[in-house]
Amino acid sequence: MERVGVVGCGQMGAGIAEVCARAGLDVIVVEAGEAALGAGRKRLEASLARAEKKGKIDSAADVLARIRLTESLDELADRTLVVEAIVENEQVKAELFAQLDKIVTAPDAILASNTSSIPIMKLGTATGRPAQVLGIHFFNPVPVLPLVELVPSLLTADATVERARSFAQDVLGKHAILCQDRAGFVVNALLIPFILAAVRMLESGFASREDIDEGLVRGAAHPQGPLALADLIGLDTTKAVAESLYEEFKEPLYAPPPLLARMVDAGLLGRKSGRGFYTYS
Ligand code: NAI
Repeated sequence: MERVGVVGCGQMGAGIAEVCARAGLDVIVVEAGEAALGAGRKRLEASLARAEKKGKIDSAADVLARIRLTESLDELADRTLVVEAIVENEQVKAELFAQLDKIVTAPDAILASNTSSIPIMKLGTATGRPAQVLGIHFFNPVPVLPLVELVPSLLTADATVERARSFAQDVLGKHAILCQDRAGFVVNALLIPFILAAVRMLESGFASREDIDEGLVRGAAHPQGPLALADLIGLDTTKAVAESLYEEFKEPLYAPPPLLARMVDAGLLGRKSGRGFYTYS
């Protein structure tokens, strides 16, 4: 069984920590600063309380007891698998991977990133062990959505991929698909241009936000419309993934529309900030 470390306890990091602890693993979560640590703890407690209420777990307290939250990366020294889920910024992530490489001592430890779009190669080569670095890309909300994308770089060892597959499928009970190390992998390369097209429709006055979303829900059997989905993903993350896709492929369909950029500038980030295309209480 892996001893898991998670870096970042935002929407994704908290979800990843939760599914690992629910699978019986010992989890250490690192956050940056006291306020973010407190917010991460609240996020975990609220999600586990919901899971307990719905009968998905016996005891939220038992699961929480397997998760230790800290501000110190050094506590990850004995981990056999670390999953990074911090802000979608290549430089910040590469610096973190260089630090983790120095801190995590097990010679066969895997350093994984939950990045949606940053080349795994850039993170692998920030370390001295690129054969043990890969993308393990979860989906939001992590406790609910059953998919992970496994993303080896050109330098990732096959054994690393197989261990990650076994972790995702056998331990966490997720379904794993394998993707090449290209911005967006499979799901976001298809999903992000679709969301951006919806933002452009709204921006041009072509249709209202409700009609765009209802159109896809009622006309194409999507569980939620593209604008509501962007709010769930986070508009900052949506924009960052679009920028990475645009940077990689230079296709106009990946270019973030001005409305999305202005909303991010304004701090309208979707559900996590309380307001995006819709307002949340
Ligand atoms: P978020 O903004 O909710 O959380 C990021 C967290 O990382 C924050 O709590 C922040 O305080 C923390 N953080 C930043 N720098 C740190 C550092 N150096 N050390 C420790 N903690 C640090 O973002 P979210 O949505 O959880 O995204 C995180 C990653 O997951 C990004 O790479 C994103 O692309 C990826 N992702 C996001 C999905 C989504 O639907 N939001 C889906 C799949 C992947």
